Amino acid sequence: MKRYLLIPVLACAPAMADDAPMTPGQKAAIANCGRCHVVPGGNPYGSIGSTPSFAVMRHYKDWKARFEAFHTEPPHPAITQIEGVTDPFDPSRPSPIAPMILTEAEVKAIIDFVETIEPKDVGVQQE
Ligand code: HEC
Repeated sequence: MKRYLLIPVLACAPAMADDAPMTPGQKAAIANCGRCHVVPGGNPYGSIGSTPSFAVMRHYKDWKARFEAFHTEPPHPAITQIEGVTDPFDPSRPSPIAPMILTEAEVKAIIDFVETIEPKDVGVQQE
């Protein structure tokens, strides 16, 4: 009898964890970065193929520096506007896709969220 009572308890545990409310950083990451990167809690099959997932990048030793500078690394400069940080797009070279329009606070929130992601070791350490 005890065995039957335990089953529903165990079945509920992961569901409760999944139901945790998303932080603003996680929402912003899914809405913006999730268009190309796999972001936990958002789009498990959403990678465009050329993008490392957030969990894999979280495993890089210098993950934070990379996220702080992502807007300077292609392809992001062509599609990213951060208020007070990036120059406006050159009118003769507008963003080829709907751009990511972010505030510094949103980028910080995304980085705070990335910090909480469990790093995924796929045997790669970017140097
Ligand atoms: C249009 C698709 C696209 C979107 C949207 C996008 N990325 Fe990327 N991102 C890429 C690609 C492609 C790469 C791999 C570039 C390479 O390997 O040279 C990449 C790489 C990265 C890297 C690693 C850069 C490095 O130093 O190696 C970081 C960090 C990153 N993205 C963060 C973000 C964040 C944060 C967002 C959302 C605010 C985001 N990306 C949105 C396409 C995208």
